Amino acid sequence: MNKLIVKGKNKLYGKVEVKSAKNALLPLIASCVLLDFEVGFLNVPRLKDVDVLLEIIKSMGGKYRYDDDVLYVDCSTLYNPEIPCEEARKIRASIFLLGSLISRFHKVSTVRPGGCNFGERPIDMHLDTLKKLGVEVSNGEYLYLRTDKLKGSKIFLPFSSVGVTENLIMASCLAEGETIILNSAKEPEVVCLANFLNRLGARIYGAGTSQIRVEGVKKLQPKIKYFKPITDRIEVGTFMLCSLVTGGEIEIDGADFIHNTELIKKIHNNTCKIMLSSDKIYIKSSGAGSGLGFIKTAPYPAFPTDLQSQILAYSCFLRGTTVIEEGVFKTRFKVVDELKKMNADIERVGSRVLVNGKTELYGAEVTAPDLRGGASLIIAGLGADGVTTVSGLDVIKRGYDRIDEKLRILGGSVNEG
Ligand code: EPU
Repeated sequence: MNKLIVKGKNKLYGKVEVKSAKNALLPLIASCVLLDFEVGFLNVPRLKDVDVLLEIIKSMGGKYRYDDDVLYVDCSTLYNPEIPCEEARKIRASIFLLGSLISRFHKVSTVRPGGCNFGERPIDMHLDTLKKLGVEVSNGEYLYLRTDKLKGSKIFLPFSSVGVTENLIMASCLAEGETIILNSAKEPEVVCLANFLNRLGARIYGAGTSQIRVEGVKKLQPKIKYFKPITDRIEVGTFMLCSLVTGGEIEIDGADFIHNTELIKKIHNNTCKIMLSSDKIYIKSSGAGSGLGFIKTAPYPAFPTDLQSQILAYSCFLRGTTVIEEGVFKTRFKVVDELKKMNADIERVGSRVLVNGKTELYGAEVTAPDLRGGASLIIAGLGADGVTTVSGLDVIKRGYDRIDEKLRILGGSVNEG
């Protein structure tokens, strides 16, 4: 039963609603370790990665509960800064706890995190930058971190890493003095984390730019009870592309189009009509367009790596060529072999792929190699001739809440099997 059966060529039509972003929620939840009061997050999807992080918090003495789509997290009772090994190995986001746990307990023990299976995911930058704040790290199979006191510092990131920027924000907001993060990540999820902590009394300036300044404060205060995270720009982009391969017409409610500017620029005027309002995107296919030219993924505001596999599937349906270069995770192309089983014409050379579009795609038995690769196969299946069986639904559920149900409401034939 860990499969999705996708019958192709049903036009998607209607409205779909998107929830809070997985990659915003995970650091927000990790940051609750800094608080000795409960906070409620609004519009929360049910995602496996979020569940694993919440279970880690629970095993360390924290509490959480859901009331419909409000998630309450209360870390006032958290007492144990040991991230359990089994859980840590399940998700990359366990690494986000380093910053908040070291701040609160001055010590942390864990193992290297797990996460999506698309190549090497080092943690050297996390550890090196925490050292700059006064953390000692013993780095073997197990990781032990300790500090007498966290002290602000000026830190340059060799790559604008999202997770490292978020970890440093969490580690520094209660540290002594000022921390400056140079070449910080500008992703909307980083801004969301800074906004949340600032609402509780933190002093984080410049989030969304390449230089973040954090003035340490003594304590965060329960100034708000609820916080609404940004909606999931990757879920939005995935639905846009799902709709286009079927020649459909859909409205995505809750979407903030600013966060999907690069995707919109790429597909607009080529194959579709798009109308934007403050919290909706309307997208209507105008028939198969031509190849998308060159796309390079890179940190925000460039084209996101988390939509690379999905646009790769979409470009298989366009006349002409599309070249995609992966600039964040050089080997994030495991889905190529699966798409080839559906007759896709894709050549891979190092960190680039060349797609010769408009070969007819046929349904096949394929496996989600990773979360976004799974979404890519759903897109391919929706536009293909016949039935596609996508194994590895549990991988897709890490980051998509009821994607099959939402696609069915839009008229797609996508069922668990
Ligand atoms: N990197 C290092 N050393 C480190 C940390 C990162 O070399 O210590 C490298 C990575 O290998 C990569 C680059 O830096 O080449 C950027 O990785 P980043 O640290 O920005 O990624 P992340 O924080 O681990 C988050 C998202 C990913 C998303 C990336 C890039 C979360 C939970 N995860 O990961 O989301 O792809 O940023 O935008 O926020 C997904 O949702 O499918 C997903 C994988």
